[in-house]
Amino acid sequence: MLKGKNIVVCVTGGIAAFKAVSVVSSLVKLGAAVDVIITRHAAEFVTPLSFRSITKTPVVTDMFEEPKVTEIEHIALAEKADLFLICPATANIIGKIANGIADDMVSTTVMATRAPVLICPAMNTNMYENPIVQGNIERLKSYGYKFVEPDSGRLACGTEGKGRLPEPYGIVRRVLMEIACEKDLNGLKVLVTAGPTREAIDPVRYISNGSTGKMGYAVAEAAALRGAEVTLVSGPVSIEPPLGVEVIDIISAEDMYRAVMERESEFDIIVMAAAVGDFRPESRAENKIKKAAGPPEIKLTQNPDILAELGRRKNRRALVGFCMETRDLLESAAEKLEKKNADIIAANNLNTPGAGFGTDTNVVTLLFRDGRDRMELSGSKAEIADVILTEAAKLLSK
Ligand code: CTP
Repeated sequence: MLKGKNIVVCVTGGIAAFKAVSVVSSLVKLGAAVDVIITRHAAEFVTPLSFRSITKTPVVTDMFEEPKVTEIEHIALAEKADLFLICPATANIIGKIANGIADDMVSTTVMATRAPVLICPAMNTNMYENPIVQGNIERLKSYGYKFVEPDSGRLACGTEGKGRLPEPYGIVRRVLMEIACEKDLNGLKVLVTAGPTREAIDPVRYISNGSTGKMGYAVAEAAALRGAEVTLVSGPVSIEPPLGVEVIDIISAEDMYRAVMERESEFDIIVMAAAVGDFRPESRAENKIKKAAGPPEIKLTQNPDILAELGRRKNRRALVGFCMETRDLLESAAEKLEKKNADIIAANNLNTPGAGFGTDTNVVTLLFRDGRDRMELSGSKAEIADVILTEAAKLLSK
């Protein structure tokens, strides 16, 4: 995802500097060419050699023991970078950049770049909340510098509060948001539903299905990476929420119906990837049903069909549904396209190897309402998500 991208990672002195090693390692694995600049203080916490072993590139440092790189090359670094990542960023480096001080390798090179700069502050809570630091952060934001908010929690100094460097995973995903894709969905609002719903029988039991949410989450993440403003209405799943996406957690089909209908009119593209339960128990037992009374008879009633209701309120937006079957896939998908007034149905067969719940891949046929030829797709859920979004966005420009 980062092939062909040049990232300069600046590591400044704090206990969180060790996390920069795994950030750099992930960026390299994603295909980026990474140069590391490390301050003298950071080198007290983590060695240049750790970074050099991962990037296979000399580390730029203020320390003379490391292979020397000339001043001109630092400017070259500043010029070739697609992104500067300062991770972790101390109060000191934030203060220097905000005030135009360039007295070491990091501050000098950052000053010389026109690339976007993403700053990950990490420090003691009182330092972070200090009005001088906050003022510097605000000033930098006003110049277009971007920040990764620190996490709250127990800090190395023993105090609790805001100031901890987020886990490497979150930082890497933020880098992806900044530079991984062309922002061709900028300005569009995308609503995605994902995961299963749970229909309660009693306080401890429910009817549900095997959806893990992976397909819908992949669509939401792809849309966000491509610059869309994304809302994800999600049933109960155990995967990480995509970065940069507003997540609305729901439990039942009726919850999902309400969450979607409250907002639907704002969106340009709606993708219904959720495996919405068609039926729910007519009533939910107030207390746990006891086995002694014998197997209960559970009367079911129909849930609202969210996609069909969206189809009725369609306007000019692009509406995408999914169709998961175990037989007669294409007939059934064509019928749903028609009946639910969707523009695109992504049809997949649960029994096809590499398709269905829980896998990282999918095998999908796209059916289009405008009479275009069907499209056969197979690949990672992320790749399929991209095609679905591209096709949905094309409908908007018609
Ligand atoms: N869907 C929905 N609301 C429901 C059921 C389904 O919005 N109550 C949406 C799904 O999110 C999906 C599409 O409709 O995008 C098709 O879902 P699917 O379960 O394949 O079809 P159903 O309409 O439930 O029909 P059947 O179960 O008879 O195949």
